[in-house]
Amino acid sequence: MSDHPPEIAVGLQARREQAVTDDVEASFGGAASPRFREVMQALVRHLHAFAREVRLTDAEWQRGIEFLTRTGHLTDDRRQEFILLSDVLGLSMLTVGINAPRSAGATESTVLGPFYVGEHRVTPHGTDLAGGAPGERVLVEAGVTDTAGRPIAGAAVDVWHSDTNGFYDSQKPGYRLDQPELRARFVTKPDGSFHFRTTMPRSYPVPTDGPVGELLRASGRHAMRPAHIHFVLNAPSFETLVTHLFVAGDGYLDSDAVYGVKPSLIVRLEPHDEPTYPDGTPAPGRWQRMAYRFAMKPAPAAPHA
Ligand code: BEZ
Ligand code: FE
Repeated sequence: MSDHPPEIAVGLQARREQAVTDDVEASFGGAASPRFREVMQALVRHLHAFAREVRLTDAEWQRGIEFLTRTGHLTDDRRQEFILLSDVLGLSMLTVGINAPRSAGATESTVLGPFYVGEHRVTPHGTDLAGGAPGERVLVEAGVTDTAGRPIAGAAVDVWHSDTNGFYDSQKPGYRLDQPELRARFVTKPDGSFHFRTTMPRSYPVPTDGPVGELLRASGRHAMRPAHIHFVLNAPSFETLVTHLFVAGDGYLDSDAVYGVKPSLIVRLEPHDEPTYPDGTPAPGRWQRMAYRFAMKPAPAAPHA
């Protein structure tokens, strides 16, 4: 029990708490890397401020540690529960916004997500990524340009999306990196274009069978992402562009579980009933066309030696 009047006891307690923070912050003061020092000291300040603000109880702290432990145990080279946690906390999109700010004439970026498996295999233009699988087809016809609209030839465009049940190939039992499903790389033609066919993307839930699912349920939040196709574009002298195209009209565009939607990335599909695609390949009944032009930002000039 403190012998001090209540207001003085509160002040003393606050000073003792601040002294812990100051001590820990100072202990990073000797770090060799100034950037490491800056990041760690800010992390300590903000973590401690959070604990003070919510008056974190021992039981809550324990529960948080236990949650992060399970998140780690579930994470391996095929399942990335930590990225998913960052995604549903909006930290991934905040980092995207900090590192790829909006830039005049350039396509906006969004989250990479946990289902990118690295560089895909180069695939001929026009390929049907869904092979013989049934279902309505989407013809994606796109171009890649610089911010002035000049075509970029030879850009590598990695594409991936979920199947009609909402699963990526890498989530399925028996998945093999050398037998990709609904994944490909296209290399843009001299006019900067590429095209392929695939099944209609659908909205799907992010994985909810782990700690992140528990977090969403406890928060009364849904787990859905609006229908989209992922793209990563790489071209020499340009910044890598990580983005999606979203299907206009999807019911989850306003409440994406990972906050990844940007209006400039929403595309209205055009229905077509012609019996062939524009390249003459037979089309099975109605198909949809998704057209888009991706504009890449020039890479920052290398500093002079
Ligand atoms: C995705 O679109 O693949 C994705 C992004 C963030 C979290 C989970 C999935
Ligand atoms: Fe996705």
